[in-house]
Amino acid sequence: MRILFLNGPNLNLLGTREPEKYGKLTLADIEARVRAKAVGMGLDVEFRQTNIEGELVTWIQEAQGRFDVIVLNAAAYTHTSVAIRDAIAAVQVPTIEIHLSNVHAREEFRHVSLIAPVCRGQIAGFGAGSYELALEASVIVKVAQKGA
Ligand code: DQA
Repeated sequence: MRILFLNGPNLNLLGTREPEKYGKLTLADIEARVRAKAVGMGLDVEFRQTNIEGELVTWIQEAQGRFDVIVLNAAAYTHTSVAIRDAIAAVQVPTIEIHLSNVHAREEFRHVSLIAPVCRGQIAGFGAGSYELALEASVIVKVAQKGA
């Protein structure tokens, strides 16, 4: 089973970016944790980050037929991007929305997710743990797809 982790704008700054909100781990640290857990679960993961909205759109489109699940931290684009929402809706790859912080406990503009209606579900508020939980969620989505 192949899982594509996509990370949006400013997540390349994790480690130094507002650590009280996002923690002290870098994105590379988080990737290492996810990879270690994925190996134990027999899962194949790919990790990418971009600050460019269109690049996320292209990667979502290209995931069709190549990945079983997309795990997406669209960062600020979560709250603004119709293009990313439409890309998720256009492909048949189940997508799980994740966030490090609990967006619902923060500013009001973060309570709105334009991508939530086209995602299978959302994991938010567990720091790096949100990424690790997304592996479990991916397996659940896949098993459900098989009709178990
Ligand atoms: C975030 C939450 C977003 O509101 C914010 O714009 C981010 C990170 C999170 O992981 O908590 O950049 O997606």
